[in-house]
Amino acid sequence: MTEEIVKSALSKVMYPGFTKDIVTFGFVNNIEINGTDVSVTIDITSSAPEVAQQLKDEATAALKSAGASAINCNIKTPVIPREGSSKGKNIAPQIKNFLMVSSGKGGVGKSTTSVNIAIALAAQGKKVGLLDADIYGPNIPRMMGVDGMKPEVNGNKVIPIKAYGIEMMSMGALMEEGQALIWRGAMIMKAIEQFLRDILWSELDVLVIDMPPGTGDAQLSLAQAVPVTAGITVTTPQGVSLDDSRRSLNMFQKLDIPIAGIVENMSGFIAPDTGVEYDIFGKGTAQPMADEFNTKIIAEIPIEPSIRTGGDEGKPITFVNPSSESAKRYLAAAESIWATIEEVNANGGANNEGVQPTTPPGVSACSTGAAAAAPAPKASDESCGTGCGCH
Ligand SMILES: Nc1ncnc2c1ncn2[C@@H]1O[C@H](COP(=O)(O)OP(=O)(O)OP(=O)(O)O)[C@@H](O)[C@H]1O
Ligand SMILES: [Mg+2]
Repeated sequence: MTEEIVKSALSKVMYPGFTKDIVTFGFVNNIEINGTDVSVTIDITSSAPEVAQQLKDEATAALKSAGASAINCNIKTPVIPREGSSKGKNIAPQIKNFLMVSSGKGGVGKSTTSVNIAIALAAQGKKVGLLDADIYGPNIPRMMGVDGMKPEVNGNKVIPIKAYGIEMMSMGALMEEGQALIWRGAMIMKAIEQFLRDILWSELDVLVIDMPPGTGDAQLSLAQAVPVTAGITVTTPQGVSLDDSRRSLNMFQKLDIPIAGIVENMSGFIAPDTGVEYDIFGKGTAQPMADEFNTKIIAEIPIEPSIRTGGDEGKPITFVNPSSESAKRYLAAAESIWATIEEVNANGGANNEGVQPTTPPGVSACSTGAAAAAPAPKASDESCGTGCGCH
């Protein structure tokens, strides 16, 4: 064996998620050769364990087929720079912070908020991912202008789709158009876990997660899989929406998720011709609820036709018209959210130890009575709400 043969063999190994190989990237170091024994160090930039494992397997196979017999392939990964010291289970440790976007009720503008907050955070210099965890009605791809685009697959991992400077993944991008999915407790858990484990997210500052409406299995599964740094709830000013939002804030408390605030959406109307703001459903009606949960309204987003057309056409207002009134409010909300995230991290980080399942694997939480002590409210009659997957 020679160094040349080793390098030529390793130049066939692509870095996951890229079309460039590990030699061209300059990741291959310390090549030691003794007859047909080869030892190499590969210094990579990702701290995701699956990236290291994939490279180790592929590099070993490439060296073997080039004639090496004993192969020592040492993958060096960076130490994850953590902003806080979050505790508990974290199946996506390369992501520093998780922001859950929730609402008690459907159709209040959760996805619109998720998209615009994600873009605002990216505009403020953060490395942002956007996960559409609304497995029932995934519409983030359309709102991000990537409807119909299929993500690249690398081995058994999926590479997020990039749009407007952020990484995005959605069940909508993974399934065929019009395909109906019926989800039950265990499947929801599995889907949420796969979104975090099997998607090759970069080292993100924050992953914004658009949840399905309500307080059910998806919310609990997510809270158990990663320490969620902060949650926001989206509401409209009408009383019925506020009642549902209260449930959503209550859920954050039960799941030990720090509350970063409330977005009051469809709060007033900005006329496109005059720019005059009118009060339609009432404004500021969420304030008593904010007080009750010791939080604040981080944005009052008016009904603005360009928000809807931006969503339908895949041109989010915060990206295409950042100087508009609504975009300014999304940007201010993003700053406020980031301040909460920093505060949570400064105080020890998020902790999901208290929401882990208490039943041993293979034992149904329902049969042990754990269902009664479930940390999250019941989603529906389909599941006991513990995420045990027993129904
Ligand atoms: N402030 C706003 N001004 C105008 N249109 C808006 C505003 N917010 C949301 N919309 C529009 O309202 C509709 C519903 O919004 P969105 O899909 O974001 O709600 P959602 O809470 O995610 O709904 P679902 O529960 O179905 O997931 C969309 O067509 C969106 O473009
Ligand atoms: Mg939605």
